[in-house]
Amino acid sequence: MKIGIIIYSQTENTYSVALKLQDKFQSDGYDVEIQRVIPVGEVPPRAKDVEFQNAPEVAEYDAIIFGAPVHAFNLAPAMAAYLEQIPSLQNKKIACFVTKGLPFNWTGGNKAISKMKEICQSKGGTVVGTDIIIWRGNTDEKIEELIRRFSVLF
Ligand SMILES: Cc1cc2nc3c(=O)[nH]c(=O)nc-3n(C[C@H](O)[C@H](O)[C@H](O)COP(=O)(O)O)c2cc1C
Repeated sequence: MKIGIIIYSQTENTYSVALKLQDKFQSDGYDVEIQRVIPVGEVPPRAKDVEFQNAPEVAEYDAIIFGAPVHAFNLAPAMAAYLEQIPSLQNKKIACFVTKGLPFNWTGGNKAISKMKEICQSKGGTVVGTDIIIWRGNTDEKIEELIRRFSVLF
């Protein structure tokens, strides 16, 4: 089983979660790699025809964890545009997480996760888990909890 951790991260919070997830899956014996979504320039909300410096291929993975920040009470537009351009997620198990700065899941977290789920399912993927990390207070504990939950999904 090959696992891809595909993330968009502007200020490295989401990336730091990806690194910890990678450590855990590696120590559990999985073949796992992190790939970063990198757009060319700024991506406005609902942008079409977004160009990417790096738009990771998904074909080789059996399971994928997608991670991104919440921007403006929604999924970061770069991640939305990346997910939209994936040709297919058929036969793949998917988990999604977002990181966010404002308190409460309803300040963009729930909406961002719904969007990720909706796009992944529209591509034929099976979403088996989701999580939201609010980046304040004891973040390490929240990351540990996400890792505990995600490590048994695939
Ligand atoms: C342009 C912008 C908009 C943001 N909007 C929100 C928001 O609506 N709700 C929220 O909870 N956090 C918001 N944040 C905070 C980020 O979601 C949070 O810092 C996140 O962990 C950043 O992830 P990253 O370091 O992987 O880029 C925003 C940050 C930026 C830069």
